[in-house]
Amino acid sequence: MMTNIIELTSVTKDFGKGRGIFDVSISIKPGMVYGYLGTNGSGKTTTIRNLMGFLKPQQGTVRIKGKDAWKDRTELKYDIGYVAGQFEFPRLRTGTQFLRYYAKYLGITDFTYMERLIELFKLDTSVNLKRMSKGMKQKTALVAAFMGDQEILILDEPTTGLDPLMREVFLKLVREEKAKGKTIFMSSHIFQEIEEVCDVAAIIHKGRVVDTVDVDKIRNPENKWFGITFNTAWDRADFVDRFRFDTVKIVGGRSCEVTIPAMDLMILLQHLKGYLLCEFQEKHTTLETYFKEAIRKGE
Ligand SMILES: Nc1ncnc2c1ncn2[C@@H]1O[C@H](COP(=O)(O)OP(=O)(O)OP(=O)(O)O)[C@@H](O)[C@H]1O
Ligand SMILES: [Mg+2]
Repeated sequence: MMTNIIELTSVTKDFGKGRGIFDVSISIKPGMVYGYLGTNGSGKTTTIRNLMGFLKPQQGTVRIKGKDAWKDRTELKYDIGYVAGQFEFPRLRTGTQFLRYYAKYLGITDFTYMERLIELFKLDTSVNLKRMSKGMKQKTALVAAFMGDQEILILDEPTTGLDPLMREVFLKLVREEKAKGKTIFMSSHIFQEIEEVCDVAAIIHKGRVVDTVDVDKIRNPENKWFGITFNTAWDRADFVDRFRFDTVKIVGGRSCEVTIPAMDLMILLQHLKGYLLCEFQEKHTTLETYFKEAIRKGE
């Protein structure tokens, strides 16, 4: 079995008054894009600070590449590209100065990839760091995190401050990095972006992981779900009566919903022949549904 590149086992960091993270266990295989989904204050940043070795867990262990995230943090930091949820730049003047300084720290001598990232994000690095807009600061932090080409990326709400177009650019970059074999851990409170790029997503609520979802199953469900509206209630009743799909649900006089194995689509279409339809629409269960349900159960 492939060993986990990132592994948290029953990690607890209790700040008191129910704040912190409690008994968090997460296993991530190499090459995986792992989403960490939670509302404000749910414990995403606290988990990430434990991963980065900035916090020592009160209980449990955090292992990255088999090493202890806390004890071996100095060694591990060169293996991880990191974007913090909140950050302050060092006292340097421009974006260029910062990126050069950071490249030196990482031991980068070839700036080709850094230049490509700057171009990708359409970032003007000549701007004074203090005068950069929120989005520009975030892009600078992203360039710094990706340019080291490390095998692990840990990103705390990486799309904060990015406009929708830049968000797309970022998600494409994540897919590219995955294709290179990178392992990526990213937190977010936006289910759509997690649904778009992640293989697995854990849902954290009030400091506890309340569900882990195979995101690929959401993108490519085994069953398809359709909403059908007939021309008349009589037609709807006739259809339901005649074809007796086990999974038909009547949702209105003229409407019903049918869930079928994806490969049975042709059968359904055959059965619908001869009826006049007003609407035939494929519906999707989204990560949002899982998220809301998991949170409801976690209350
Ligand atoms: N150093 C600390 N001391 C005390 N409480 C803390 C500390 N750090 C975080 N907390 C509390 O722990 C909880 C989880 O915070 P955390 O920053 O991990 O949430 P988050 O999921 O990252 O939220 P957001 O989406 O707002 O970034 C919050 O209630 C927060 O107030
Ligand atoms: Mg946070």
